[in-house]
Amino acid sequence: MDQPADAPASTDLPADAPASTDLPADASASTDLPADASASTDLPADASASTPTFAAFHRMWQDLLPIGRHPRTGGYRRSAWTGADLACREWFRAASAAFGLDVETDRNGNLWAWWGRPGPNAFVTGSHLDSVPDGGAYDGPLGVVSALAAVGLLQQAGATPTRPVAVTCFTDEEGARFGVACIGSRLSAGLLAPETARGLRDVDGTTLGEAMSSAGHDPNRLGPDESALRRVGVFVELHVEQGRQLSALGAPLGLATAIWPHGRWRFRFTGEANHAGTTRWEDRRDPMLTYAATVLAARETARADGALATFGRVSVEPNGTNAIASVVDGWLDARAPEQAGLDAVVAELARRAGEAAGRDGTAVEVTGESLTAEVSFPAEPRRRLAALLGASQVGSLPQLPTGAGHDAGILSARVPTAMLFVRNPTGLSHAPSEFAEQADCEAGVLALAAAMADWVTG
Ligand code: GLV
Ligand code: MN
Ligand code: MN
Repeated sequence: MDQPADAPASTDLPADAPASTDLPADASASTDLPADASASTDLPADASASTPTFAAFHRMWQDLLPIGRHPRTGGYRRSAWTGADLACREWFRAASAAFGLDVETDRNGNLWAWWGRPGPNAFVTGSHLDSVPDGGAYDGPLGVVSALAAVGLLQQAGATPTRPVAVTCFTDEEGARFGVACIGSRLSAGLLAPETARGLRDVDGTTLGEAMSSAGHDPNRLGPDESALRRVGVFVELHVEQGRQLSALGAPLGLATAIWPHGRWRFRFTGEANHAGTTRWEDRRDPMLTYAATVLAARETARADGALATFGRVSVEPNGTNAIASVVDGWLDARAPEQAGLDAVVAELARRAGEAAGRDGTAVEVTGESLTAEVSFPAEPRRRLAALLGASQVGSLPQLPTGAGHDAGILSARVPTAMLFVRNPTGLSHAPSEFAEQADCEAGVLALAAAMADWVTG
């Protein structure tokens, strides 16, 4: 697989990783907003940027914006099953009710808002509302708000669906609190054992089971959800792009082709706590040194292999300025174009960490915590979307692989899925400054509404 479209240009990817691989020849064709979206999508005639057509989108966006936003950083702290997450869920219930949708919570805590009777062959769209620590406003919420707004556009146009529509909000996509990504969709798809999920712990030692119970959700219900999945005719997830490939191509929207295999590994370095001011160099067993050497090795190893590797989280014991650490836990996030390459990077890094530990008189233990195999999105829903939008005034859409994980990727093991990306002008993501232009968000809503109309009307 080629370089993910969303790896920002400043990463240390090999110089020969082409910036615009996997794209159709006409990827830069005009994708301006339709001046009159009714031509091909049965949408209201005033569906251009900043018109009343999008009032619902902007109202929902503004309502959601303050929830879980940290006053100092401006970033979002919406970890699963925290007060902020529960407030987001309440927001979703109220926003869905405003469109007359019936909201159900499935056994894994995922929310489904139904337009029409829940049943087979549904057009399902949505994303997630939880965030990474100090995440941006768009990663997840853009897909949820756009999905509801698309329902609103069809209702406004007087559409009568002949198949059900569901807007979903998957639980704990980011895995920020319990370490495993896409917990809700993974459980539903049967890709995470319920007993494993219940036992996952956050930094305070609270288990997922306990957190769910406190939030009023029975953790004993967790498990594969065949009846929920049987209803899905297609799942289309709209998401802010997490790179700037679309920007480089001058395209407001794109379609996902694939997701790089990726995962998280905990590297536990153990040494011996001791006095920072009195312990001679030759007497030290400092795990911080081994950790630091491993961080540098991660960059070197991944860079040489065309992969990405990041230590973005660390925990130190006893965490005292004047004490040598006894334990350092560092979490590696690694991603590569292919599974074999990813496995090789992680194995080499474990080897180099062990080598450094031998030199430093420390020990290292490596544990895989969240592993996601490569996803190739199926050709069919993508072909239909590309044809539909290509024939409309939206125009031909670039088709891009991505390095970011998504619920659509997890669900693609079980149901037909597709993803629409909305241009991110800076490429910044998982950060407070994550952004998409209003006109591009509106183009995303129109595209989603067109897809919805195509599947459920006519
Ligand atoms: C999702 O945002 C991921 O980290 O892949
Ligand atoms: Mn994310
Ligand atoms: Mn996301």
